[in-house]
Amino acid sequence: MKKKPEELRSHRWFGRETMRSFNHRSRMAQLGVQESDYRDKPIIAIVNTWSEINPCHLHFRQRAEEVKRGVWQAGGFPVEMPAMSIAEIFQKPSPLMYRNFLAMETEELLRSYPVDGAVLMGGCDKTTPGLAMGAISMDLPFVFMPAGPMLKGNASGNTLGSGTDMFKGWSELRAGTIDQQQWEDLLQGIARSPGTCMTMGTAATMMSAVEALGLTLPGASSIPAPDSRHSQMATATGKRVVEMVWDDLRPSQILTDDAFDNAVTTVLALGGSTNALVHLIALARRAGCKLDLDRFDALARTTPLIANLRPAGKYLMEDFYYAGGLRALLERIRDRLKTDAPTVNGQTLGENIAGARVFNDDVILPLEKALVQNGSLAVLRGNLCPDGAVIKPAASDPRLHKHTGKAVVFEDYHDLYARIDDPALDVDQDSVLVLKNAGPLGGPGMPEWGQLPIPKKLLQDGVRDMLRISDARMSGTSFGACVLHVAPESFIGGPLALVKTGDRIAIDIPARKLDLLVPDAEIAARRQAWKAPAPRYTRGYGAIFTQNVTQANEGCDFAVLADRSRIPEPDIF
Ligand code: FES
Repeated sequence: MKKKPEELRSHRWFGRETMRSFNHRSRMAQLGVQESDYRDKPIIAIVNTWSEINPCHLHFRQRAEEVKRGVWQAGGFPVEMPAMSIAEIFQKPSPLMYRNFLAMETEELLRSYPVDGAVLMGGCDKTTPGLAMGAISMDLPFVFMPAGPMLKGNASGNTLGSGTDMFKGWSELRAGTIDQQQWEDLLQGIARSPGTCMTMGTAATMMSAVEALGLTLPGASSIPAPDSRHSQMATATGKRVVEMVWDDLRPSQILTDDAFDNAVTTVLALGGSTNALVHLIALARRAGCKLDLDRFDALARTTPLIANLRPAGKYLMEDFYYAGGLRALLERIRDRLKTDAPTVNGQTLGENIAGARVFNDDVILPLEKALVQNGSLAVLRGNLCPDGAVIKPAASDPRLHKHTGKAVVFEDYHDLYARIDDPALDVDQDSVLVLKNAGPLGGPGMPEWGQLPIPKKLLQDGVRDMLRISDARMSGTSFGACVLHVAPESFIGGPLALVKTGDRIAIDIPARKLDLLVPDAEIAARRQAWKAPAPRYTRGYGAIFTQNVTQANEGCDFAVLADRSRIPEPDIF
């Protein structure tokens, strides 16, 4: 059943014979558009996170025009609406703090204006979940338009991957195995086109995850940003969303428990970022779906990692696209997917991936040659993390998968920064580096500090991996035996707050255990003596964040935003 023009949401603003409606139409005239341009047509908000400070979205000005072209062609009326651009690289103290801000902004833009449907333009890490969370809560028809990855980095004859090769280069510079000129060349060549990070970092992970959720056009998430096919996808996205409005196809009809299982399976097969745990749990809660850390762990036990992409593997997103992209990867793991799940183009996920071919078996590996057959991600529990913690075993040294070592504790990042390279630091390759006060409230915003630097003196001895534990997140482009997202966090008195240098800590990844080997009576005495730090903020958005944010295992959403009760449409008088 197609919607009738008078059933459009925007009809409430423009279609009534009232003084207020007259006023709205007169102001549309002031915008330079005729009534026939927009009246009785779906009004499509193009929520654009373009900003001059965001290099990953540099092409979004042009792409917005290409989306508009599609909306016009399909008989809609496009309205571009700027929203906060969360530029992962620049925004401090942590971009995650602003994900919920963007979610609120998106939801309220769609609610408070005459909008019938939306195209969400994002890609740089937190923009994808931020936009989608807000639009899911508003529940208007929308299509997500991913920014797409940048081209491969290149310098000094080497192919370079975002983040991953910078982290490696920094370790080599500190170890003295590369010189200042090579480091400078790396700076110039590692990011050389518009688009998101092109390793399997958080951006590529989340763009792929929303495609697997059914929220993009098929294949959209893998197209490199500068590719002409990216422009074509933008126009097709604009066309499609107009049809979705007439069909009243809303996210609530697309997002089911099955869709979230598909997204998690996809992330695991890609070797995606651990940030996906936080974001997908937040998205699922917005959609009223069941997803928790245990579901990630359960699916990880049976999902092979078949994308040979950095940081776990060898290639980059541009190679992935040429090898067939996400559709080809999903076709390869078809029997692990819920192929009946609906998607924004009106077809099922199974129909969208049918017949997709892999053109390079070294980039998208056959199942029997998977980088890891299962367990690319593991959820740990124990007396150090009663509400969970996460590690990527595939990206860490196997000698650390079952390990006991002495803790070297840093109270916060300032402390870490001041002491990590001190030659007198009592540390060896079996030590366990512990960073406190880096969680949702302590960071604040769980900054991506989880890949704690290896002490310089150990780097010079050739050590490249150590067990590290924190309540921080880690960039998807990072690697190493880093236990992340420890919950509850230390800032609110989680057990991590009670660890002291010299304590023994045991990890057993196959058994999914992480424990502080200190007698219970001693832990209880330390808890008694623990004093809560003062809140990081007492005013402004920081205070709103502080008062409302949930812990990592709950998705770090604001409880008041995750609430699923319906908000009535605004009165128009
Ligand atoms: Fe924008 Fe990595 S900095 S995606």
